[in-house]
Amino acid sequence: MKMLFILFFASLVAGNVDITHQKNYYWSEQGLENPSQGLLQVADWSLLYFNTSREIRPVLLFTIATPASIPVVLPQVLENLASFLSQDQMDANGNRATTLAEHTLVASTNIEAHHGCGRLTEKYHHKCHEFDHKFNGAVYDHLELSQTKAHAYSIGLSRIKYLVDMVSLGYDVFYFDLHHYFFKNPLRYMYTHTTTPIVVSATPSSVCQPLSAAPDGSLPDEHHRLDIAFVRSTPSTFRCLYNWLYWSTHTMHEAEDKPLDHHTFRTVMQECVSSLGTSVLSVSYLNPEHFPSECNAKCGCRGGAPVERPPDGKCPTEVMSNWVGMIFSCSDSATSLGSLIDKYASMYRDAGLTLVV
Ligand SMILES: *[C@@H]1O[C@H](CO)[C@@H](O)[C@H](O)[C@H]1NC(C)=O
Repeated sequence: MKMLFILFFASLVAGNVDITHQKNYYWSEQGLENPSQGLLQVADWSLLYFNTSREIRPVLLFTIATPASIPVVLPQVLENLASFLSQDQMDANGNRATTLAEHTLVASTNIEAHHGCGRLTEKYHHKCHEFDHKFNGAVYDHLELSQTKAHAYSIGLSRIKYLVDMVSLGYDVFYFDLHHYFFKNPLRYMYTHTTTPIVVSATPSSVCQPLSAAPDGSLPDEHHRLDIAFVRSTPSTFRCLYNWLYWSTHTMHEAEDKPLDHHTFRTVMQECVSSLGTSVLSVSYLNPEHFPSECNAKCGCRGGAPVERPPDGKCPTEVMSNWVGMIFSCSDSATSLGSLIDKYASMYRDAGLTLVV
C-alpha cells in the first residue's frame, strides 16, 4: 500500500527537470487531450492547399517564435516566406495569389513574443498562436536553451503535441526552426523531391554526407536536430507521433541542454519503422547539397564534402544554385543570426540568382 502511494505521487523528474505538470496537461484518463478550440481555428485559417501535380495536399507551415526573434529574425523569415507565391498554392477559397507567409502558424513562447508576432500580421498575414505559454513562458531565445534547461524539455514536448494535433486533423506539416533562409520554394521541394512520410534535416555529425536509413530501415544512431521536420499526414505518422509524445512524457530522459524531442525522436521512430515496416513508415533526411548548414559548411556541400570558401568570401554560383534552404544554427544571438542571414541573401542576389518561387 505504502509503495503504491509513493508510485502514485512520484513525479517524472529527469536531470532535475520535473515535467509532471506538462504530462498531466496533455494526458488524462480519456487519453491524449484533443487540440484546443484556439488551435483548431488558427490551423483552419492557416491552411494551404498545395498542388503536387498528382494531388492537392492540405498543409500547414509551423514555426516557433521567442521574444528574441521578434525584432529581426521573425520579420526577416516572414519577408522571405512572403516571396514564395506559386501557382501551385491555393488558400481555402481557391485563391492562388497566396504566399507561404500567409499560411505560417507562428507559435509564440510567451505573451511578449505573441504581441510581437501580432504586430507583424498586418504586413505578412501569418497566424499567431500561444504555444503553451504556461510551460514555455520563460524561454527568451531559442539559441540559449542551454541556459534554461527546463525549457529544453517543455519546448520539445509542446512541439510534439502540436505535430500530433495538426497531423490528426489530416494536415501535412512543414515545421522549421526560425534560423533558416529559403532560396527555393521549400514546399515544392518537399512534395517533388521527397516521398517518405517523415522527412527531417540531416544530423549535425553527418556534415556534408547525404544520410539515409539503411535498407532495413535503421536510422543513423546519432543526435537528430530536427531543424526541419516535414510530416505527411498518414495513419502511420499519426501513430508514431502519438507514441513519440507518450514515450517522451512517460519515460525519463537525460536531455542535457538540447530539446527533449531531439533525444527521443530516433528511438521512437526506429521502433515504429521496425514494427510497421518500411513500406508503411520510413524516415528520410534532407540532402545537404540542397539544405546546407552554415555551421558545418560556409559555402555548402558538393560531392559529400564542404565547399572551400574563396578568399573573396563569395561562394561559387554553381554551388549556390543548388540551395533550397540554408540552416544557420551556430549564431549565439538573434542579432548576429539576423545579419548572417542578410549576408547570405545578398551574396545570392549579387551572384545574379533569384528566388525560385
Ligand atoms: C494541379 O496541377 C496539375 C499539373 O501541374 C494541373 O493539370 C491541374 O489542373 C492542377 N489542379 C488545380 C486544381 O489547380
